Amino acid sequence: MIDKVIESRRSVYQQQYTNERVDDAIVKRILSNANWAPTHKLTEPWRFVVFTGDGLKKLATFQAELYKRVTTADGTFKEDRFQNLLTKPMLSSHIIAVCMKRDEKKSVPEIEEIGAVFCAIENMYLTATAYGVGCYLSTGGVTYFAEAKEFFGLGNEDRLIGFFNLGMSRIELPKGKRKPIEDKVVWVS
Ligand SMILES: Cc1cc2nc3c(=O)[nH]c(=O)nc-3n(C[C@H](O)[C@H](O)[C@H](O)COP(=O)(O)O)c2cc1C
Repeated sequence: MIDKVIESRRSVYQQQYTNERVDDAIVKRILSNANWAPTHKLTEPWRFVVFTGDGLKKLATFQAELYKRVTTADGTFKEDRFQNLLTKPMLSSHIIAVCMKRDEKKSVPEIEEIGAVFCAIENMYLTATAYGVGCYLSTGGVTYFAEAKEFFGLGNEDRLIGFFNLGMSRIELPKGKRKPIEDKVVWVS
């Protein structure tokens, strides 16, 4: 039942994964369900780069080195952040870099393209939940570094949205916390 999948969906973090690899067939289902997100004018702005196996090390090295270069230049470098970026990706089975690619005609406002990609991300979260796979979206690290775009095949107008981590969960999904929907809705009838 869809209500149960939506309500039971939780973010499951790297430290909560076993070292078992998620079946690529499930990752492909996650991606193909992402592709069914709503999209104004059918621009389909979502793009994905999937890192797994040695690919995770490539991602880790890239992001740690970029972090070091940018933050050494502006004086905000922190060694523990650097070590985190260098080692944490290998705790995930797969990391999917989620990107927004602007269409050439800029048919719809940017906010709608970002919105469409977040709809795709929710499809990913729900698919992983339905298949019993742990996941969460991270917007840390180099997500908002302009210098990161090229590595993911993005141009200036495009955006890196975040990193969708996947792993086999070794925890029971905790009960979620939300304030009541009634506090957030006005009905006009
Ligand atoms: C846009 C967005 C960005 C997020 N970025 C991070 C992040 O950088 N690090 C993190 O630990 N969790 C991140 N999360 C996951 C949230 O922390 C998580 O959704 C929230 O705590 C609610 O928990 P739940 O997903 O289990 O319901 C992000 C979620 C969203 C929607």
